[in-house]
Amino acid sequence: MYVGSAAIFLRAYIETTLAGGLLSLTPLFGASWLWKTDDLKMAQYCATHLCVIHLCATKNPFEFGRELGVDEIVDRDAEVAEVVEAIEQGGKLFIVGPRRYGKTSILKAAEDRLRTAGAVVLRYDAESYPSLDLLVNSLVAGAARHLKGGVERTGEQIRKFFSRLRPELNFSMTEREWTAKVGVTAADTTEHHVTLLVEALDGLEQLAKAQPKDRAVGLVIDEFQKIIEIGGQSAEAHIRAAIQRHKRTGYVFAGSKTRLLTSMTTDAARPFYRLGASRFIGPVPRNDFTSFLHKKFVDSRFGVDDPGVLNLILDLAEEVPYNVQMLAHACWEDLRAKAKSEQPVLNHSVVRGALERLVRQYDPFYTQLWNGLTAIQQKTLILVITEGGTNLQSMRVVRALGKGPSTVRRSLGALMDRGILREEEGSGDIRMRFEDPFFARWIAMFTARI
Ligand SMILES: Nc1ncnc2c1ncn2[C@@H]1O[C@H](COP(=O)(O)OP(=O)(O)OP(=O)(O)O)[C@@H](O)[C@H]1O
Ligand SMILES: [Mg+2]
Repeated sequence: MYVGSAAIFLRAYIETTLAGGLLSLTPLFGASWLWKTDDLKMAQYCATHLCVIHLCATKNPFEFGRELGVDEIVDRDAEVAEVVEAIEQGGKLFIVGPRRYGKTSILKAAEDRLRTAGAVVLRYDAESYPSLDLLVNSLVAGAARHLKGGVERTGEQIRKFFSRLRPELNFSMTEREWTAKVGVTAADTTEHHVTLLVEALDGLEQLAKAQPKDRAVGLVIDEFQKIIEIGGQSAEAHIRAAIQRHKRTGYVFAGSKTRLLTSMTTDAARPFYRLGASRFIGPVPRNDFTSFLHKKFVDSRFGVDDPGVLNLILDLAEEVPYNVQMLAHACWEDLRAKAKSEQPVLNHSVVRGALERLVRQYDPFYTQLWNGLTAIQQKTLILVITEGGTNLQSMRVVRALGKGPSTVRRSLGALMDRGILREEEGSGDIRMRFEDPFFARWIAMFTARI
């Protein structure tokens, strides 16, 4: 909400709005009304209130930390179209990308589009389920939610499609929500849970076959590697065998580019190898991202010093979409605070100031993360920063660390497993990058050199 005395910026804004308003009202009432002082005062009063209402209603347009909707994501049209097509065609698709590059947002945008077209799309985040039987319960309940018809008929159909699971179904009249429970006991093994999951997939295929031909049915599982982590390698083989038989249901599996998911999709010895197409998610095209940033700042009536300042946001955030939005969000907040006393303009010092504020704000989190690392891992991270992520196994770097090459390799591996670093393949070489570029900034600001 806007508070404080009439700011210069606000006054200028009111005057412009008022002038525009008077001009547009003149044809309606004739020019003479402009001369009546009371009317003019009243118009000014209304314009002031409209301006204040406008500023109160203006919300920070940069969003991070949640899945974005179809109208909110920049670019990604091709990726969204590919997910839609895989589901519509009953195909199999893997979406793999670094953390916070927008995988979930792509899935959500595709789901929104498919649902608008009347498709049945079930989407789950495997990380939300501590065991596979809980995922199976959600899957059965989700299927019930999508069926048309009364409660009784839906219950009958679900019991028929998922007959092997013998699910206990419940419909809450107050919440208008289905829940399902498949029979498990505490003594059940993980293998049994894998069998239940495979039976649930078979049930979904039965449901799909019972739909009209033009009604697509799809299952989307985000953070798919978690299922294999819980269910083990046998889960991989069983799930593959099931979905290979399914022709009507489309499957989209997504996950961060962890070592597990990479080897699942690229290792010829593993069951998922070449099961379907793989789409690797890269950065959002730079021009599209800067245009988006420019529009959002200008729409908020903030000046943009020069286009270079938008590139600076992308550079400091290393083009990780989450970090780009987070930094832009912080810049926007700082500009809004300035708007009380001056015409706010986004320039290099605003961007650098906002980044420093952000990094300081996350200091307790980064300190805890840093203190949880071994001395070798801490030194490795410093070297990743000073060496720009390349040649980390060269003699010079290994010597700087004071350990052998195998120790460096192990340290890099552990940092990747902890989700702090990731490998980026590019024109023939491999570069180590921070999953969170602001952590690298924190290390550079607050820790010692080696
Ligand atoms: N195409 C995009 N345009 C604009 N911002 C984006 C885009 N994709 C992602 N973001 C930003 O990144 C944030 C994280 O997106 P999302 O959760 O979809 O990524 P993710 O790859 O699934 O992340 P995680 O690896 O943590 O699961 C979003 O809230 C948004 O701020
Ligand atoms: Mg995600």
